[in-house]
Amino acid sequence: MIRQLGNVQTFLAIVLFVICFTKMRYYCIGRAFCLRSQTGRTYRKMSTTSAGAATDEVLLERTGNKGIITLNRPKALHSLSLSMVKKIYPQLKSWEMDNTMKMVLIKATGDKAFCAGGDVKTIAQSGKGSAITDEFFREEYRMNNIIGSLAIPYVSLINGIVMGGGVGISVHGPFRVVTEKAVFAMPETAIGFFPDVGASHFLPRLPGKLGLFLGLTGHRLTGRDIVKAGVGTHFVPSDRLNELEKDLIRLEAPDIHSIDKILTKYSEQWEQDFKKEFSLKQYIGRINSAFGGQSVEEIVENLKKDNSEWSKQQLDIMSRMSPMSLKLTYEELRRGHNLTLPECLKMEFRISQHCMANEDFFTGVTHLLVNKSKEPPVWKHRTLEEISAQEVDSYFQPLTAPHLFGI
Ligand SMILES: *[C@@H]1O[C@H](CO)[C@@H](O)[C@H](O)[C@H]1NC(C)=O
Ligand SMILES: *[C@@H]1O[C@H](CO)[C@@H](O)[C@H](O)[C@H]1NC(C)=O
Repeated sequence: MIRQLGNVQTFLAIVLFVICFTKMRYYCIGRAFCLRSQTGRTYRKMSTTSAGAATDEVLLERTGNKGIITLNRPKALHSLSLSMVKKIYPQLKSWEMDNTMKMVLIKATGDKAFCAGGDVKTIAQSGKGSAITDEFFREEYRMNNIIGSLAIPYVSLINGIVMGGGVGISVHGPFRVVTEKAVFAMPETAIGFFPDVGASHFLPRLPGKLGLFLGLTGHRLTGRDIVKAGVGTHFVPSDRLNELEKDLIRLEAPDIHSIDKILTKYSEQWEQDFKKEFSLKQYIGRINSAFGGQSVEEIVENLKKDNSEWSKQQLDIMSRMSPMSLKLTYEELRRGHNLTLPECLKMEFRISQHCMANEDFFTGVTHLLVNKSKEPPVWKHRTLEEISAQEVDSYFQPLTAPHLFGI
């Protein structure tokens, strides 16, 4: 687990490097575009040329009665930028309103990542009070919400890393197909944030205390385990993904049943392997008893009392996380258990904006993603005990600015 957290940091550092690199490229491409646009070509025309299409961060296509979203920002592990979100949401809305449309498929280019999260570095670097600290979350959660209520089936093909924002763009749909290359995590407590994008809805609905464990520790699940945890719905080996996609596209009148039939057929062919034990099976008892505590402090006490190697690893992991993030996560999952997805997202939007007004998110992202430190950041609160219930509660209070969904 210690090594695993090291991996998370290495991974975050790679994401940072990649984002910087991609930005430089976009800057150059942007300049080239400016020069060319003076010749009178419109952006729309540019984007339909092969050069334009190759650099679009997200591709939106229609094939017959199906819409296909392809995340195409491979150098940043397809992490979601504000402009990607702003393209996806209106497209989903218009496909949903078009009654000739029968299915939406979302995937990503390459097999390293489906989507590694939201572009938090850009947000942190824009600084407190900048417009993006409100706009990004508002737009992203609105997109998460429409996925949860879309009138047509929404199928995610997840081949590679799926974390944070990548989970939010897939998990609320009815079909989440994962391959053996899929790596799931909600790692936000490590950067002074909290599991958002509707995590307060889906995590408390996982069996027992598994969701709380995943949210507090950022524990990673891979491949079939993602299905066993209830985050994914179907498994398909990556070398059969293209074939599966063709079968789905070939459906004349796709609906929940015909899509499920195809996905189940592919899943069942791998049932023998699927029977392999869940990697967390031997810890489920411990997870349910320790994380059944009535507060984060009680969970820590339970883990200390348990005193097993596994418990010590969890304590070590949690000791690196922002204490405020741990408490916010506990509370949002407790409340989210009884709320609808729109209610959860509204609550999360409030929390996100209170986080933007505080230090830990900026400290965490700067320390881990910008400075690439291997040590945990120095959080605003050093211990759980110095955070009062009132302070936690203040993050759930209404905002003065307009709320999400105008409520
Ligand atoms: C959720 O609902 C149950 C049953 O209605 C209730 O007992 C519980 O207190 C509620 N929890 C929260 C956090 O509101
Ligand atoms: C990041 O590094 C800079 C330069 O070394 C330092 O001044 C700053 O305090 C660091 N910030 C964090 C949050 O670690």
